Amino acid sequence: MQKPYRPHPTLADYYDSDDTRAGAINRMFDQSAPVYDAVNGFMSFGTDVRYRRDALRRAGIQPGMRVLDVACGTGWISRIAEEIVGSSGAVYGLDPSVGMLEVARSKRRVVRPIAGTAEALPFNGDEFDFVCMSFAVRHVSDLSSAFHEYKRVLKPGGRLLIIDLTVPDGRLRRAALRIYMKNIVPLAARISSVGRDSAQLYAYFWDTVENCVPPETVQSVLSDTGFDAINRNVALGMFSEYSAIKPLALKP
Ligand SMILES: C[S@@+](CC[C@H](N)C(=O)[O-])C[C@H]1O[C@@H](n2cnc3c(N)ncnc32)[C@H](O)[C@@H]1O
Repeated sequence: MQKPYRPHPTLADYYDSDDTRAGAINRMFDQSAPVYDAVNGFMSFGTDVRYRRDALRRAGIQPGMRVLDVACGTGWISRIAEEIVGSSGAVYGLDPSVGMLEVARSKRRVVRPIAGTAEALPFNGDEFDFVCMSFAVRHVSDLSSAFHEYKRVLKPGGRLLIIDLTVPDGRLRRAALRIYMKNIVPLAARISSVGRDSAQLYAYFWDTVENCVPPETVQSVLSDTGFDAINRNVALGMFSEYSAIKPLALKP
């Protein structure tokens, strides 16, 4: 029996207990879906889409691959992956938030949208060459279940990429990012006409980043799951790109 790993402790400002957590997260994402792209663009000074493209290329996504974008949100990773894999490949975008999937579908970024969660992927084993999850690993209920699912659906030799915001090294950088993410972004969302309803989500984002298990734990859970070639690349001091490969043959 695998040991469960919660990505962060209970955050009582946003939900009562772990039993109500998934529902509360879903409601926040559903409510914020229409303004998610606008607030993200503001938060990242317009670099969010280019960064995702660079990260996918660094992780080795190739034409012809079958790709699963877990927690696809409004679908930017899926859209970029579609461009790269081309007509000989296929990209599936999965998310539990109906609101996020609706935006992804209406903007024609996700060609194959699927409702579901990382912890119980609705796919057969050995289906994908590349599985990606961006800015969402903090939202799963159990890292171990999600990573076992990623390994199950990947083909032997398939690649995993997990991108997430992590607390930067250095007290000054950490304090600056905290003030920006926890105070400035939610305030800007609150006073703008587009983001009023999403202010809570952006405050929650920072709290999940700050309370998340350290990168070493994410890597050790990947290792316990049986992934090979586990690596963490840090971009711009705060974007952690965890990559790993499903072994070609089962380990004894
Ligand atoms: C911050 S958004 C990231 C969206 C997208 N990957 C991106 O890069 O913009 C987080 C997404 O995770 C999804 N999510 C929350 N819990 C999840 C779970 N247990 N399994 C899969 N996705 C989940 C949310 O619905 C939301 O769309």
